[in-house]
Amino acid sequence: LENGLARTPPMGWLSWERFRCNTDCKNDPDNCISENLFRTMTDLVVSEGYAAVGYEFINVDDCWLEKERGFSGELVADRERFPRGMKDLSNYVHSKGLKFGIYEDYGNYTCAGYPGVLGYLEKDAQTFADWDVDYVKLDGCYSHPRDMDRGYPEFGYYLNRTGKAMIYSCSWPVYQIYAGMSPNFSSIIQHCNLWRNFDDIQDSWASVESIIDYYGNNQDNIVPNAGPGHWNDPDMLIIGNFGLSYEQCKTQMALWAIMAAPLLMSVDLRTIRPEYKAILQNRKIIAVDQDPLGYQGRRIYKHNNIEIWSRPITPIYQNYFSYAVAFVNRRTDGTPSDIAVTLRELGLSYPGGYSVEDLYEDVNYGVLTPQTKIKVKVNPSGVVILRADVQPQYEHSSRFSQPLR
Ligand code: GLA
Ligand code: GLA
Repeated sequence: LENGLARTPPMGWLSWERFRCNTDCKNDPDNCISENLFRTMTDLVVSEGYAAVGYEFINVDDCWLEKERGFSGELVADRERFPRGMKDLSNYVHSKGLKFGIYEDYGNYTCAGYPGVLGYLEKDAQTFADWDVDYVKLDGCYSHPRDMDRGYPEFGYYLNRTGKAMIYSCSWPVYQIYAGMSPNFSSIIQHCNLWRNFDDIQDSWASVESIIDYYGNNQDNIVPNAGPGHWNDPDMLIIGNFGLSYEQCKTQMALWAIMAAPLLMSVDLRTIRPEYKAILQNRKIIAVDQDPLGYQGRRIYKHNNIEIWSRPITPIYQNYFSYAVAFVNRRTDGTPSDIAVTLRELGLSYPGGYSVEDLYEDVNYGVLTPQTKIKVKVNPSGVVILRADVQPQYEHSSRFSQPLR
């Protein structure tokens, strides 16, 4: 969607995977979906340094609504859990320098059974604009996938007509794929800033692997659709929760960056351990995710449970791209695997060579030519991610040692 927004994949915090539809504020006041939870996460995104590395959105997911609309058909936030209302929460998020996102559904109900927008498209779009919402995720439960080709653009039309700039996240393709349809991606690209293609992420390595496989196996259809203003959304980052090991968290972060994915953390920022916070705040990997070219990467090798993923990034020199390259070990034999490969075999063929560094470890390989063989040791279910910046020839003789950015 060319609305000037999401020129790089959106980054922020989203409640769903970690906090779900917990509405029990009586017994679980600290973890229920309530204004307190979002205010607390807003504070932590700023005070714990997430905002400083690019995380920007505080996104409310399902279960924020009253079960019924108000007397004039308006959406009403749950009066007990959001006593000050959504405009107040939006103001609070903005007062901290962040942006505010909300969830609705193109159907009669949201997935958790709260009122959907069907029948109220124009009114609800205006409500979101009135609340100064910056990001709308529109889910697709309780609607007909065949109606979505018309319905998602229609709601987007009403968002647009408000004049308030809002990122528009669609679940349009995933529901159509489940219904056996082939989504009209040129229309989806035109009308949405991002969209879900596949299953909800769950807090497990099996879930992350299934997403990695889906995107790898279907990359010829998926990858070309990504670009500035329009992104594939493989779903939230679950780094720092219960289901992934440290190595697996590093793998999710690296591959989501290769995939030019939105980086939407769904984790309790009050209790996250420092090593997971460090993964989420890895500036070098975030820079790959946010690369201005906006090309989504691809799986370029898969054999014996070793995968190599690669993404073209800036800088470009004489039509040669730089690359981020991730080596993933999906073997379960419990020992690190050595992978040795020449840069040329990875598709890096600029004769002047590449300045290569590891994005997790403090290892700089210096300038390597295409025929150089690099060897990496990859832990089980872990990753090594390298960045190879094309190295303009003149740089060798220059007194400047930094590659052009
Ligand atoms: C769907 C979406 C999830 C989440 C839930 C909320 O399953 O895919 O991301 O928004 O609905 O009910
Ligand atoms: C701006 C853009 C429009 C539309 C709206 C709402 O006004 O120019 O194209 O996207 O935002 O998002």
